[in-house]
Amino acid sequence: MDISAKHQELTSILSSILVLGVFEDDKTLSSEQKKVDDALENLISEQIIKKEGFKAKFADTAITHTQLKIPSDKIMLVGLGKKKEFNTTKLTELCAKLIKQLDKTLGVKNVSCEPFGLDSENFDAGECAKAMSIGFLTGMYDYDKYKSKKNTPQIKKIRIALKNLKDEKSAKAGVNNAKILCSAMDFTKDLINEPAQNATPEAIAEIAKNLSNDLGLTFKSYNKKQLQQMKFNAFLAVGQGSEREPKFIHLTYKPATRKPKKKIVLIGKGITFDSGGLDIKPPNSMLTMKTDMSGCATVLGVIQAIAALKPDVEVHALSALCENMPSGTSYKQGDVLIAKNGKTIEVDNTDAEGRLTLADVLTYADELDADEVIDIATLTGACVVALGQNITGIMGNNPNMIKSIIQKGKESGENLWELPIYDDMQEMLKSDIADMRNTGSRFAGASVAGRFLQNFTKSKNWAHIDIAGTAFIDKPYRELNKGATGVMVRTLTNYIMSI
Ligand code: BES
Ligand code: MN
Ligand code: ZN
Repeated sequence: MDISAKHQELTSILSSILVLGVFEDDKTLSSEQKKVDDALENLISEQIIKKEGFKAKFADTAITHTQLKIPSDKIMLVGLGKKKEFNTTKLTELCAKLIKQLDKTLGVKNVSCEPFGLDSENFDAGECAKAMSIGFLTGMYDYDKYKSKKNTPQIKKIRIALKNLKDEKSAKAGVNNAKILCSAMDFTKDLINEPAQNATPEAIAEIAKNLSNDLGLTFKSYNKKQLQQMKFNAFLAVGQGSEREPKFIHLTYKPATRKPKKKIVLIGKGITFDSGGLDIKPPNSMLTMKTDMSGCATVLGVIQAIAALKPDVEVHALSALCENMPSGTSYKQGDVLIAKNGKTIEVDNTDAEGRLTLADVLTYADELDADEVIDIATLTGACVVALGQNITGIMGNNPNMIKSIIQKGKESGENLWELPIYDDMQEMLKSDIADMRNTGSRFAGASVAGRFLQNFTKSKNWAHIDIAGTAFIDKPYRELNKGATGVMVRTLTNYIMSI
């Protein structure tokens, strides 16, 4: 499916269907739409709007034949809802809904459309084309790798037809940007959806290596023996119950300039399957635990997009990959682990494994002396309870940094909400025999996990993002289908691009 933007007259486009957007407020046609209506002898204004009473409610559609009065076979009106409520997030959602109808219900091959709502002046042509393209591409995402019958898209071409030639350049750039972001999101989603039997630590390390080779990134990976020498003891403890060897991966994007504006480290939780370990999870909680490497998949997606967008920022993507399994060699309740930074941790619950793996990676990140460190993890069920499946939790030690990530999220159509970390939450992690335990009580679980992580970073600009609820969803949300979402790929990429 190819998307493009071009300066073109609506009445001269040859396509299977021409889609026009109408606001609910007034339903008056724009000057461009009027030209189409004239050519169609008032089919839109008289037939669809007046006689059939098309209301133009958000994502409502009406279709009719053009009787070849214009080169396109059919005409479709799509409701944009209320003008005041319309923004790029709504536009993306709209296009995801629209593309499904065009592809699945109508089965058309060649679509042309307006830049919806551009006249509302809520956004410019570049933002419009980008938001639309993200909606089209995200709406079409489908994980059918293991289905005998594939959902091959019917749609081959989507053309966004621009009224003004001066908008062409920025609209083309918007489409291109969307393609980069969506291919990164697709990569992330595919990796999350992949069953744990195949997405093993070794396999993911191999995928990351191939990605690095393709994109010209530096790639390093470390095996168990090397990690023992590097004192990744907390991480290795989590993986020791599994038959599969743990891997730690480190990818680097370096800009062409010698002195980049900033150095950013991204850390993704990489538990390829979380059974809970000896504190084994009940069956229902384990069902989706192949997704416990979503943080890893996210940072790989982000660095993929970054390699294409080439900002003047150095970006590192790190992930400690292992399985959390119960066996005769598993780490146990009561074990004391000496983390990479020397602090000792009493294992209270083997199911609080993510923070143990992240702890050592945060310490490793200290050595990179980065300007900012951001970790992203499916870390706590408590975050899901607090914020649900459509809002991502964020916390850290720099309020301004958190504020600007939340703001980027807003602009990217992704919701974030800050959760607090109080210094005295360390009390809840108190151990009788070690520096701390890996869990607190059942209270404030997401924040206490954040407080735990804070013990292992020296960075003054550290943010922790909890995607336990948002990485994999049961119900479609906005442009997202159910299953893996690729959440935070857009936010973090856009955040880095804005540095
Ligand atoms: N991977 C889970 C968190 C999770 C829960 C992710 C639901 C996605 C959906 C994490 O390793 C975990 O098991 N956390 C425990 C911590 C507890 C033992 C303190 C939890 O949240 O129950
Ligand atoms: Mn767990
Ligand atoms: Zn986990």
